[in-house]
Amino acid sequence: MRFGSIIVFVALCSFTAYYIYEPIPEEIEERWKLMLTNSFFRSLSHLADLSELLGLKDYMGVMYFITLAEKVVPVSDEHVKVTEEKFDGVEVVLYQPKQKDGNTELRRAVIYLHGGGWCLGSSRMSPYDLLARKIVTELDAVVLSVEYRLAPAHHFPVPYEDVYRVVKHFLHKGVLAQYSVDPGRIAVSGDSAGGNLAAAVSQQLQKEPGQQVQLKAQALIYPVLQALDLNTPSYQQNQDMPILPRTLMVRFWSEYFTSDRALFRAMMANTHNNPESSSLLKFVNWSAFLPETYRRKYNYSAPAVVQGVGGEAVGTEGPSRSLADPRASPLLVPDTDLRSLPKAYILTCEYDVLRDDGIMYVTRLRSAGVEVTHEHYDTGFHGGLMFTVWPTDFLIARRMTENYIKWLEENL
Ligand SMILES: *[C@@H]1O[C@H](CO)[C@@H](O)[C@H](O)[C@H]1NC(C)=O
Ligand SMILES: *[C@@H]1O[C@H](CO)[C@@H](O)[C@H](O)[C@H]1NC(C)=O
Repeated sequence: MRFGSIIVFVALCSFTAYYIYEPIPEEIEERWKLMLTNSFFRSLSHLADLSELLGLKDYMGVMYFITLAEKVVPVSDEHVKVTEEKFDGVEVVLYQPKQKDGNTELRRAVIYLHGGGWCLGSSRMSPYDLLARKIVTELDAVVLSVEYRLAPAHHFPVPYEDVYRVVKHFLHKGVLAQYSVDPGRIAVSGDSAGGNLAAAVSQQLQKEPGQQVQLKAQALIYPVLQALDLNTPSYQQNQDMPILPRTLMVRFWSEYFTSDRALFRAMMANTHNNPESSSLLKFVNWSAFLPETYRRKYNYSAPAVVQGVGGEAVGTEGPSRSLADPRASPLLVPDTDLRSLPKAYILTCEYDVLRDDGIMYVTRLRSAGVEVTHEHYDTGFHGGLMFTVWPTDFLIARRMTENYIKWLEENL
């Protein structure tokens, strides 16, 4: 009996060790902490798969637990006044510096878009709440954190359109005056899927001749920028990396467009391009846009082009059409559409499937003449900036936050 329990104990220990241990590169700092953190994400993802298989709750519904677990009620404190408002029908959390006596100077503003693959996340999660407060206190700026609606309940373009409506509403001179914001010093920013929305809305605004107030800057933190090639070198190198393995990113992309699993399967195989999107493959050609160090170990082959992806007829309004839409993939525009974009800050991480999306945008913006600050973290992993709250607080999150805010301080 005793022997039996020892066997069970050893088996349990080795199972746990096997489950937690992952071949994470040595260079990543706080490696064991990351493995432990990621084992939580992996367990939840397996649970979500199981739940969907059993027909209990769909995958994203279970994954949403991460968002719920970190949600807080944003409240005012000694330095920051926090209010929840609706801008053109869309929920926002507004952070304003508490008025200092006699201070009538106009302030800078940051419109912040949270990450979570368009399916998860909330402006009310504690890491975003903390980040907003830090920006307010360090820059004496107003932060507008947008609670856009999420997929799969609201597919593309709803999340994008919510963001667009908020930005358009905020950029009215009267609205800016109400919050003492300087119309010449407004940035849009976001991480991951939020970086995607920030890049997309920046492109849209500068195309509108009637738009009087324009953005001064865009700060994109490990942004998602294209859905056409899901086999870039960074997708290949980091397909099993913590926090955002390739399967999860592909899942986010497909859920953004449709709940039809055929698109997910096609995207996994990188065979989701149709004749309409294929003419745009040149804009995500990593053999042309990545520096040699990132591409040399890989041979370029253009993604396959197939008729009628996702079980739908070609030419209908649906995921095939969305694939080619720059509001979903901001990399898919010609250089002429990039030229007058606001100056950009782009953060990329070595151990991130999205690394090459960011680097390709750096290359393309620079060659179109846009001023770009590129900060690449050699030991960084996707989502790093979010890990500021105990017990999943990482040193790299602190460095990323400091550098990001420093850039805003100097450029906004
Ligand atoms: C990609 O770029 C390479 C040159 O770097 C070129 O030879 C190739 O034809 C391009 N392919 C596509 C699909 O644009
Ligand atoms: C790339 O192509 C070369 C020449 O055909 C080959 O020797 C090499 O193994 C290929 N590399 C990869 C990663 O497929």
